[in-house]
Amino acid sequence: MDNENLVPVNGRLRRLRRNENLRRMVRETHVRIDDLVYPVFVVEGENQKQPIESMPGQYRWSVDRLPELLSQVTKAGIPAVLLFGIPIHTTPTGKGCLDAKGPVPMAIHAIQQWHPDLVVITDVCVCAYTDHGHCGVLDGNQIDNDASVELLAEMALIHAQAGADVVAPSAMMDGQIAAIRHRLDSHDFLNVSVMAYAAKFASAFYGPFREAAHSAPAFGDRRSYQMDPPNAREAELELRQDESEGADWLMVKPGLAYLDLVAMARRVTQHPVVVYNVSGEYAMVKAAAQNGWIDERKVVMETMVAFKRAGADVIITYHALDVARWLKGEEE
Ligand code: PBG
Repeated sequence: MDNENLVPVNGRLRRLRRNENLRRMVRETHVRIDDLVYPVFVVEGENQKQPIESMPGQYRWSVDRLPELLSQVTKAGIPAVLLFGIPIHTTPTGKGCLDAKGPVPMAIHAIQQWHPDLVVITDVCVCAYTDHGHCGVLDGNQIDNDASVELLAEMALIHAQAGADVVAPSAMMDGQIAAIRHRLDSHDFLNVSVMAYAAKFASAFYGPFREAAHSAPAFGDRRSYQMDPPNAREAELELRQDESEGADWLMVKPGLAYLDLVAMARRVTQHPVVVYNVSGEYAMVKAAAQNGWIDERKVVMETMVAFKRAGADVIITYHALDVARWLKGEEE
């Protein structure tokens, strides 16, 4: 054949995209069920499975109804859950977060009874327990950093005493990781690890979560403690600081709009990097899928692989049950 008239092309990269088996061989990134963490909202009370309107498919569960969900999680092969507590009563100081019979400690006991191997991570923050909805203790209209850290350390201890494997402080108070590590160690919880919401931004993508957890701030916003979205160098400082305070896992949150920072985290730390695919990201996908505007499964899997490609080891996502089922289906 005469190939003289061919357009000169140096590298024909399409050669390795010709069929699925070739593509499988050169695929660089994989999503595994092992990568997933499923967030669970635990509400005080009995016989509750309350749908969360802005998060279709997600519910607030009372502890007595949790087994239904937990068996789905373990059957899907998901290794870990992240627990959020929603108390009935809130107070100015948020002291309810220290109740050893609160929704989170009770949920931990239930998990230990039914699924002792499931890794239990607990969110450590007071915004669902304060009547003003801020993530710390108030001094006038300001958040008192050090008083908040004291409360968070005690809350983490309560979770550890109940049997949490991992505590995940999300309040963005300075020094919270060191204080929690110290509190855990001094009570002999040397094996409870700390997952730091290290680079957590003041994001509009948390909107649906605040409906779910009844935790929207009653006044102002969270910009005096959560990070300013334009700041990447500061995110590196936050990660390094939490690492030096003793964090075992380092998180970037939200996910999709912050993939540059997931990649940065992968470069600056050897600890596992966690990404939180937050409520607003979930809600947008669900809404578009319900309208038939996108293919939910493909969009979700593309998103998951993007987190992995950026450098995440662990993905916290409300899609976890679906993703695990889809991955299982593909493997069988
Ligand atoms: C608690 C907390 C929030 C989220 C996780 N922990 C809300 C917030 O900071 O306002 C958001 C999770 C999500 O949007 O899915 N401070």
